[in-house]
Amino acid sequence: MTKLTFGALMILTVTATAPAAMAQDVAAGKTSFNKCLACHAIGEGAKNKVGPELNGLNGRKSGTAPDYNYSDANKNSGITWDEATFKEYIKDPKAKIPGTKMAFAGIKNETEINNLWSFVSQFDKDGKIKQ
Ligand code: HEC
Repeated sequence: MTKLTFGALMILTVTATAPAAMAQDVAAGKTSFNKCLACHAIGEGAKNKVGPELNGLNGRKSGTAPDYNYSDANKNSGITWDEATFKEYIKDPKAKIPGTKMAFAGIKNETEINNLWSFVSQFDKDGKIKQ
């Protein structure tokens, strides 16, 4: 009986802390996204700015935001954005896409990159937060 209770408690603890940790990553990622905000919008009603809107980025082909005027380098990069390609790109955009017109040095800190991906990847193509 005691064992059973302990087991149940463990499950409760794990399920209770996991979403909290994720929420924290997303919150930190939102703060980090302030570095992108000058050029990128994300979320409901996001419009292209200096850079394309970033809704539904997870699984989106590079250079396909509607009505955005991409460089050939970005359009023809052949990248499909996902966790791996995004993380590599944001570390050093000009290395991943030589000739990109995104004027951004990159983010080197792994934790920050992870948080940023948690924030960015939660939006579907309509800018709604995926459940
Ligand atoms: C100074 C403006 C600027 C900043 C700051 C900036 N970007 Fe960009 N970004 C651009 C431009 C311009 C492009 C389009 C590049 C091209 O067409 O060559 C772009 C392209 C991208 C793409 C490729 C999109 C696609 O549809 O293929 C991603 C992903 C991206 N940016 C993410 C980010 C993130 C995340 C940040 C913040 C950490 C950021 N950018 C900061 C200007 C910026």
